[in-house]
Amino acid sequence: MVNKKIYLDNACTTAVKPDNVKKVIREYLEDGITNINRSSYKKSNEIEEKIYETRERINKFFNGETEKNVIFTKNITESLNVVIKGFLKEGDHVIVSGVEHNAVMRPLESLKSKNISYDIVKCDKYGQVEISDLKNKIKNNTKMIIMTVASNVNGTIIDIEKVGEVAKEKNLFFVVDTAQAAGIINIDMKKFNISCVTFTGHKSLYGPQGIGGFVINSDMESKMSPLIYGGTGSISDKLVMPNFLPDKYEAGTLNLIGILGLNEGIKFIEANGIENIYNHEMEITKIFIDGILNIDSKYKCSLIGKENINGRVGVVSICSEIIDNGEFAYLLDEEYGIMVRAGLHCAPIAHKTFGTYDKGTVRFSFSFNTKEEEVKYAISGIEKILKIKL
Ligand SMILES: Cc1ncc(COP(=O)(O)O)c(C=O)c1O
Repeated sequence: MVNKKIYLDNACTTAVKPDNVKKVIREYLEDGITNINRSSYKKSNEIEEKIYETRERINKFFNGETEKNVIFTKNITESLNVVIKGFLKEGDHVIVSGVEHNAVMRPLESLKSKNISYDIVKCDKYGQVEISDLKNKIKNNTKMIIMTVASNVNGTIIDIEKVGEVAKEKNLFFVVDTAQAAGIINIDMKKFNISCVTFTGHKSLYGPQGIGGFVINSDMESKMSPLIYGGTGSISDKLVMPNFLPDKYEAGTLNLIGILGLNEGIKFIEANGIENIYNHEMEITKIFIDGILNIDSKYKCSLIGKENINGRVGVVSICSEIIDNGEFAYLLDEEYGIMVRAGLHCAPIAHKTFGTYDKGTVRFSFSFNTKEEEVKYAISGIEKILKIKL
């Protein structure tokens, strides 16, 4: 047992939040927070303005069409469900990458009974999409391409610019899962022909848990129905949902504390600069990758994915033939205080692509807070565990 605690599970959630995020949440909790859209007093209007400011910030962040098309949900899983189930109709076909998270795969799988089908595009061993296969998989009834921007298993960034070009050329809607990439690389809806960006607040956007959303263009949105129905504080005389945004998709009280925290999380990214955040993560990732590649081959420890920092985020998976992944992660925590995740990381199809199904990997993931000495310490912990196990 050690007292030291090193958090290297940022792909799961960024445990250390910026001071401004903590401050705003603390202040609103202490001061009391009212609801919006349902009340006619000044305090409610003030909060409503802050929520509107957050929509503006998010719209600008992803270069969306208008802040009205920024919809809040509780996380990216809910966003993907709302978009997938709200858009697809019987007989439709969807194309996804070979590294998708279950947040995409499970909603799609659940629609098979409604005669909605999907195909998985071939990816190379790093998880990069083969554009020729993407084109081959398009059918007459294909309506949508859904892809993660970066793999949550090995960090590979999918070439969304090229995928977006195909989507535009073939007149398909293009939905991206930004869970592992928002706040680390620029995701520009207009430049990459993205119809809908889905996001989650608690990872690399540095907000609290329980807040996420999506930004959608009007063309795609006009073909969608809401998934959740209920009160919005608008057109309350009617028993149908409003058909204007954001109300159409925001029934019930929103996670206002979460939205205010997320606003501060994105402000933190703006203040530090997304390029600086990316560069820092890449410096750390390089040290870690080089450390893994230098481990003696007798320990049979392999890196799953790119052996360099080109076209990736700071998510790195490893596994060794001489130790079970679960035990590896357990010993890292127990003996060295290093917190990582082992297993399939909710992305079984990605492991089929990488050849790591069904044992999975041990995943290390970094953030703007991760320090050089922490990854060096992690490498030495890995080496010591492998030495004992051999
Ligand atoms: C690529 C990807 N998509 C979706 C999700 C789901 O995120 P959330 O639990 O915030 O909905 C994750 C989380 O690990 C992820 O890595």
